[in-house]
Amino acid sequence: MPGSVTMSTFLYTLLGLTVGASLHCSVRREISPCTCRLQEPTSNTILVACERMSSFTQVVDALRDKFPPDTDIALRIAYSHLDDFTNHSFQELGLAVTKLKLNHDNLSSLPESVFSGLGRTEYLSLADNSLPAVPQQVLRKMPVLKTLDIGRSQLQAITDADFQQIPDLQHLVLAGNDISQLGHASMPHTLRHLHLGRNKLSHLNGTLRGLTELEWLFLNDNQLTTLDEQLPQEGQKLALLHAGNNLLQKMPQDIRNYNAIEALFLQNNELPNLGGILQRARKLKRLHLCHNNIRELSPDEFNELDSLEDLQLGHNQLTSLNGSLLPLRSLRCLNLTNNLMEEFSLQEIIGLRRLRIIDLSHNKISRLSGQLENLVEPETRIVELRLDYNLLHSLDGALMGVHGLQKLNLSNNLLENFAPDDLIGLEDLRILDVSFNRLNTLEETSKTFLPSLEYLYASHNALTELKQDFHGLPSLCWADLQDNFIQSIEQDLAAKTRCRMHGLPGTLKVFLSGNPVQCNAQLLETIAAMEANFTKLLGLAHCSPSNMTSVITASAA
Ligand SMILES: *[C@@H]1O[C@H](CO)[C@@H](O)[C@H](O)[C@H]1NC(C)=O
Ligand SMILES: *[C@@H]1O[C@H](CO)[C@@H](O)[C@H](O)[C@H]1NC(C)=O
Ligand SMILES: *[C@@H]1O[C@H](CO)[C@@H](O)[C@H](O)[C@H]1NC(C)=O
Ligand SMILES: *[C@@H]1O[C@H](CO)[C@@H](O)[C@H](O)[C@H]1NC(C)=O
Ligand SMILES: *[C@@H]1O[C@H](CO)[C@@H](O)[C@H](O)[C@H]1NC(C)=O
Ligand SMILES: *[C@@H]1O[C@H](CO)[C@@H](O)[C@H](O)[C@H]1NC(C)=O
Ligand SMILES: *[C@@H]1O[C@H](CO)[C@@H](O)[C@H](O)[C@H]1NC(C)=O
Ligand SMILES: *[C@@H]1O[C@H](CO)[C@@H](O)[C@H](O)[C@H]1NC(C)=O
Repeated sequence: MPGSVTMSTFLYTLLGLTVGASLHCSVRREISPCTCRLQEPTSNTILVACERMSSFTQVVDALRDKFPPDTDIALRIAYSHLDDFTNHSFQELGLAVTKLKLNHDNLSSLPESVFSGLGRTEYLSLADNSLPAVPQQVLRKMPVLKTLDIGRSQLQAITDADFQQIPDLQHLVLAGNDISQLGHASMPHTLRHLHLGRNKLSHLNGTLRGLTELEWLFLNDNQLTTLDEQLPQEGQKLALLHAGNNLLQKMPQDIRNYNAIEALFLQNNELPNLGGILQRARKLKRLHLCHNNIRELSPDEFNELDSLEDLQLGHNQLTSLNGSLLPLRSLRCLNLTNNLMEEFSLQEIIGLRRLRIIDLSHNKISRLSGQLENLVEPETRIVELRLDYNLLHSLDGALMGVHGLQKLNLSNNLLENFAPDDLIGLEDLRILDVSFNRLNTLEETSKTFLPSLEYLYASHNALTELKQDFHGLPSLCWADLQDNFIQSIEQDLAAKTRCRMHGLPGTLKVFLSGNPVQCNAQLLETIAAMEANFTKLLGLAHCSPSNMTSVITASAA
């Protein structure tokens, strides 16, 4: 998913993780086997890490009083055996621990006494352990805690009392547990970021209803069937909602009120429609709805979505766009792959000046219409158009006015030929894929001028001969013509073509294996003449110049 990079960036920020150069820390010899480094040159925080410790005693011995008591310490103890936890406490370290991470330590019980001396801890991660319940007694020792991460720790339930002792908890990560029960009053109203993804929730018990400060909410990969009356009622600050991979059968009504929403991920659910819920989401930039059961879009579905850049509607059951896209003036990427469209009209995207990528692959499109050619100004600059796996017999000249098109994929259709105006005006086209069609000639490409075309994929068609087919393709560098019925190749096929790679002269490669090319003296001559002109015919092993003599002898005989 394109979103995943950004998603992990969100999470890194959320968890306060830093990725950066390691700066020296003066006591690094004394604290071995623990290590340390400065977080940043200007910050007062030192990152201390102890990994693969055999006991907590070892940690205490290594770190006790090794840092000035006013230095902020971010302490991480990971992959360690802490069976003697109860014999010590963090107090003994004499450190101002502002961040504490205890990860992959196989912790199942956290004795309260151990966690004294953590009055300055703002960040606690207990992720990747096996905790049967939220350790309330431990959290009580950290009155200024703002961030808590108990991800992947086998929690099954969150009770009303669990976070009650933390007056200012803002970031809470509970992802990847087995949570199926949430107390009605379990979530603190101070929360700004909440991750409940990858759990076993089938109901939220109204616990998010009053969260007015929430900015990011992750509910993905649960078993939620409805979010009605479950999401924050006001949610004026909610910018991101991820409820993908659930069983939602209806758009959550509350989203209507989320004026600040910028990213909405609802993929892999069972939504039948959008019900006009998103009409006013003026700040929405990314909308992911792929893998649902969406059948219809009303013309005013996206009425005020001025900011929408990325619309993912793949793997639904749309048969028509119903003019719904016209208000999307910021749209850059439109993905409609794997739907049931039988026709696509370019009038559906008229005026969408920012639109660059359209994916219409794997539909049932047999007709392209609404040609843009007559427009006075070139309004769209579609860079990539995917129409592979459709039912097109012809292009009907519909792409004529699609200015700026660089990549066009028409593979796996039913194309039999190109008409004279099908490819006119595609002066920026660099890559054309017409493989797996029924083309019996490429003649039109000799009459049309495609000055930028570098890659032509036309394998698995019904081509029988190559004449002057490349004469309109002066920049061609790659022609895949494998698995056709080509018998003859004329010598001046590429006479007007001169491949250039990154501005430097290159060689045009023509792939011909899987064709019944007749090997005779004339072909050998053609191969040699073309090679002198930087054109290489490949896949003709049965007819290489090395058997020149035998061929000539054979034809002489
Ligand atoms: C922890 O302390 C108890 C008694 O105070 C002692 O018997 C035990 O050996 C100690 N364990 C470790 C691992 O130091
Ligand atoms: C984790 O702790 C449990 C007991 O809490 C123990 O049975 C198990 O062996 C420990 N696993 C490892 C890898 O130390
Ligand atoms: C809902 O919350 C109540 C009160 O907090 C709790 O008793 C109940 O178990 C919760 N139900 C679910 C399904 O989590
Ligand atoms: C087009 O919009 C109208 C009006 O909202 C609606 O009745 C119809 O079902 C929509 N058609 C499709 C195919 O989405
Ligand atoms: C469209 O979405 C599908 C998944 O639904 C994805 O595989 C494909 O790469 C997307 N197309 C584009 C152009 O991003
Ligand atoms: C065109 O689409 C087909 C089928 O989806 C794919 O295999 C092929 O790689 C695409 N062509 C190009 C040039 O990207
Ligand atoms: C080789 O290039 C020259 C100059 O562009 C051209 O006149 C000639 O026809 C070409 N020969 C072949 C076999 O393409
Ligand atoms: C040309 O040489 C290849 C092997 O290099 C051989 O398989 C093929 O039969 C030869 N063809 C002719 C016509 O001699």
